[in-house]
Amino acid sequence: MPLLEVRGLATAYGDSQVLFDLDLDVAAGEVVALLGRNGAGKTTTLASIMGLVEPRAGSIRFQGREMRDSEPHRMSRAGVGFVPENCRLFAGLTVAENLEAARQKARSGEDRWDLARVLELFPDAAGFLNRRAGLLSGGQQRMVAIARTLMGNPDLLLLDEPSEGLAPLVVNALLRQLKQLKRSGATVLISEQNLRFATELADRLYIIESGEVRYGGTPAELAAEPDVRQRYLMV
Ligand SMILES: Nc1ncnc2c1ncn2[C@@H]1O[C@H](COP(=O)(O)OP(=O)(O)OP(=O)(O)O)[C@@H](O)[C@H]1O
Ligand SMILES: [Mg+2]
Repeated sequence: MPLLEVRGLATAYGDSQVLFDLDLDVAAGEVVALLGRNGAGKTTTLASIMGLVEPRAGSIRFQGREMRDSEPHRMSRAGVGFVPENCRLFAGLTVAENLEAARQKARSGEDRWDLARVLELFPDAAGFLNRRAGLLSGGQQRMVAIARTLMGNPDLLLLDEPSEGLAPLVVNALLRQLKQLKRSGATVLISEQNLRFATELADRLYIIESGEVRYGGTPAELAAEPDVRQRYLMV
């Protein structure tokens, strides 16, 4: 049984439907990437899973339980952590306060994340723990936002376009850190437009276009499909 099983998901904003009959699975310990161009429906998919927008149809099963139409706080309590693209840190609080405020016990087993563990993953953050989050660079904010969500000991981490808007060197640093996170056994569903970032990190990829899944496969399988990359990703 997959940890997350999405079937027939359909989501609309008012009269405008943006997700159509979307299926996807994430198994425990897997990193799965949702690839697609601007406006393809990546954020809407993650927001639908997190309960931030209300799907019109379909099923969202997490750990075998139907969770569709659950409020975000209920998804969070069930063990789903979401890192939005704009991070939404408490700008007036310090980094340490942001991290401490997000601390939650694991739902199953022992806590895997605490301040010491997140600082092992993001060692640079030790140097700015007492700075106010609003004063951090974009890359620093992205790392603190991921660290903060890990402090909640989620069983599934949803990351919305973590590489978006970051300088190449910062993207590479973040990629190394997320690979380390993957080696620690984390289960992650990540949305990306950056093909290299996604293929280096993910065990499996889905390509979405106009709110529909058009391709699913491993990075190696996608590498052998130049037509698919050209058609949906323009690379
Ligand atoms: N709050 C909203 N109200 C109305 N339409 C929306 C809203 N949010 C997104 N959309 C529309 O839904 C479609 C999917 O948007 P979404 O943000 O999910 O795509 P995305 O793949 O995350 O794109 P990006 O790469 O730009 O982040 C787009 O056509 C977008 O204009
Ligand atoms: Mg988006």
